[in-house]
Amino acid sequence: MNGRNILVTGGAGFIGSHVVRRFVQNYPDDNIINGDALTYAGNLENLRDIEGASNYIFERLNITDSEAVRLLFIKHKITHVIHLAAESHVDRSIEGPMEFVMSNVVGTVNLLNAAKEFWTSGEHVFHHVSTDEVYGSLGNEGLFTEETSYDPRSPYSASKASSDHFVRAYYHTYGLPVKISNCSNNYGSHHFPEKLIPLMIHNILNKKPLPVYGKGDNIRDWLWVEDHASAIDTIFTNGSVGEAYNVGGLNEWTNIELVRFLCRLMDEKLGRSKGESEQLITYVADRAGHDKRYAIDATKLEKELGWKPSITFEEGLSKTVDWYLENSDWVEQVTSGSYKDYYSQMYGDRK
Ligand code: NAD
Ligand code: DAU
Repeated sequence: MNGRNILVTGGAGFIGSHVVRRFVQNYPDDNIINGDALTYAGNLENLRDIEGASNYIFERLNITDSEAVRLLFIKHKITHVIHLAAESHVDRSIEGPMEFVMSNVVGTVNLLNAAKEFWTSGEHVFHHVSTDEVYGSLGNEGLFTEETSYDPRSPYSASKASSDHFVRAYYHTYGLPVKISNCSNNYGSHHFPEKLIPLMIHNILNKKPLPVYGKGDNIRDWLWVEDHASAIDTIFTNGSVGEAYNVGGLNEWTNIELVRFLCRLMDEKLGRSKGESEQLITYVADRAGHDKRYAIDATKLEKELGWKPSITFEEGLSKTVDWYLENSDWVEQVTSGSYKDYYSQMYGDRK
């Protein structure tokens, strides 16, 4: 094998599949090894278009298994890691935190240990993909910068903050060449419909209630998933070792404004009458410990590395809705089986 052997963990998930596709296409001289356990959130259909590429390999890998991680490093002579594998849904972390500890904390430490064991010389990078949720919750003013203190508040964000700390600890203690990125909420194609935007698209299409938590006044900062993938590429390629970079689009929306916007967009695309879908909006019990507002200052990434988002939210959301309308098979596949149990547990009697 020639070139770099880049292990992308979680490459069958939402963001991971966009990262794998980008790297397979942009770096034909490198080998891209997608290591994914294929949990409910992982789906090889997401990568059907590139699965035959000569520089792409899929390996079923559970990162909680330290020996399996070691063996994969040996088998593929891994030289670089882009680490996305994680349990990623806040609501699921509230129902059961332990899986988040196992995959997000233990799994990350297993990968760090393998990199420490095998990377004794040469050029290597361990890029850890993390979240803005590690910074906690903002009031009405201000933005998260790289200097904001960590203050995670959900089991999910606590597990991601812990993994960030381990990654930094391996840099300071063992000199492992790490980079960290902390990104805001992503949206785009192949997004599992347990998260706000794909769930609302699915329910609007099927004329089902649109469950808005609390008063709908919580704020999130949304970024097109392809722009996150380009930020990861930029940081992985040109970012400084030992540094963290915030990634976000300066694109804040309250949940209720966003849901109303989606309703208008879909009414138009589906030829429904004005205001029809908004009638489906249903306020339900709030998420426990619901963080009020996230907002990212990405100045460091923009000024030092020249990254910027490529499209507006309106364009990205329109493309996203089109993708869901054109890919009903994908949606049907991921919403059959265990999704039905999850959906009825979460929203069945949520008043
Ligand atoms: P996702 O839930 O869609 O996908 C996660 C992937 O990881 C799946 O393919 C799953 O099979 C795999 N996985 C889970 N546990 C595993 C294990 N033990 N071993 C191997 N593979 C495992 O998640 P996503 O939204 O694509 O997020 C990817 C990463 O980006 C996560 O680390 C998440 O914390 C981070 N992130 C997500 C967002 C967002 O808005 N979705 C924003 C910022 C950061
Ligand atoms: O900020 C980055 C994070 O964004 C990532 O680290 C996480 O992996 C990702 O899941 C996402 O977390 P959120 O909790 O912000 O995303 P979610 O789509 O679950 O919820 C977005 C907002 O919408 C949040 O305020 C809760 C609300 N919500 C969500 C669902 C699923 C609803 O009102 N109704 C819903 O049915």
